[in-house]
Amino acid sequence: MKIGDITKIAPSVNFIGAFDPRIRTFDIIMKTANGSSYNAYLVRGSEGVAVMDTVKKEFSDDFFRRLELVCDYKEIKYIVLHHLEPDHSGALLELMERAPEAKLIISGRAVMMLKGLIKKDIPFEVANTGKTISLGNKTIEFLSTPFLHWPDTMSSYLHEEKILFSGDVFGSHYYDERLFDNKVGDFSYAFKYYYDHIMRPFKQYVLQALKLYRRFDITMIAPLHGPVLRTNPEYYIDKYAQWSSEDKFRKNAFGKKMLSIFYMSSYENTHQMAESIMEGADSIDGIVASMYDLASLDEQNMIDLLEESDAVLVGSPTINGDAVKPAWDLLSCMAFLESTGKVGASFGSYGWTGEAPEMLHDRMRWLKFRLPSAPLKIKLIPTEEELKECYLFGAEVAEITMGKMVEIEI
Ligand code: FEO
Repeated sequence: MKIGDITKIAPSVNFIGAFDPRIRTFDIIMKTANGSSYNAYLVRGSEGVAVMDTVKKEFSDDFFRRLELVCDYKEIKYIVLHHLEPDHSGALLELMERAPEAKLIISGRAVMMLKGLIKKDIPFEVANTGKTISLGNKTIEFLSTPFLHWPDTMSSYLHEEKILFSGDVFGSHYYDERLFDNKVGDFSYAFKYYYDHIMRPFKQYVLQALKLYRRFDITMIAPLHGPVLRTNPEYYIDKYAQWSSEDKFRKNAFGKKMLSIFYMSSYENTHQMAESIMEGADSIDGIVASMYDLASLDEQNMIDLLEESDAVLVGSPTINGDAVKPAWDLLSCMAFLESTGKVGASFGSYGWTGEAPEMLHDRMRWLKFRLPSAPLKIKLIPTEEELKECYLFGAEVAEITMGKMVEIEI
């Protein structure tokens, strides 16, 4: 059963968002097999209302239709934007025109971004942790929860109803007009997928936000996408805590650093290099070295292995002046991870010009890997002497990983 146009999620709070059942890709990187929603809420107090976020511009009609069913524009005292991304700020300008008396509330970090997104000067007030606004008999308190997943993200808490407005945190790209977690279908996959693709690179910030959230008695979480979480909010908070605190499997099991060598090879030459590099790396105490043929890794495996690795070596032949696509795909997966502190290196056999190792080296530098001073490249079939070079290269990268003093690029 679908929700009606007037949907109370709590005595003083209405859902005024919009549903997007047909979206199949979100933010370029996320697949949304279940569609999504742009959640927005309206909080009513004895002295006015606060609109909590808006929707993607194309869905403004749904938003204004729902809003007009539950309030008059002149009642709007505050417009709160927990995060400025266009899927939540798309109807802002029109709302400000319709409710000119309303005060816009944004986070301190949003100030720098506001003009870039809105393209005109608009008045606003800044909210940091501890700031409150009053709607008469209702009080909303703000919490700075940056980088979840944009720098400007904040959350807020409605004291009287014990509702956490969490921004994108605890969101799911999951369209289901039954809206509440205990009414919709099984959205567990979408909830975890959203965490993995949106929040996972910011685990430390997630843990900081959870500490703030745990100061409050929360009976409902109202995120910006997907189901409203009202059945057991603690369960979702615990899931985020668990996913953000997972230790590295290898480190736990062996107490060693993990060095992973990813390669592709046309004629076994880059493969031979990888094997010698692995032997060299493995000769260093404290290292577990492993090799993976990129031809047989899917994206989720790449992400998991990259996350566990203290050092990442990427080997590619040069084909038409470039590294092969799976090598670039591997490095693209770093978008889902924290790269801080990882050691990186690149290598490859080549026939003519041999650009691939340098190109990968440059890319890894931009991704903030700590790198040896140069990549390793070998012309065509490696000789015994050259395989020794590979061995030494592997040992050098392993030593950097173990914190030995070797000249590196940062
Ligand atoms: Fe749902 Fe980050 O916007």
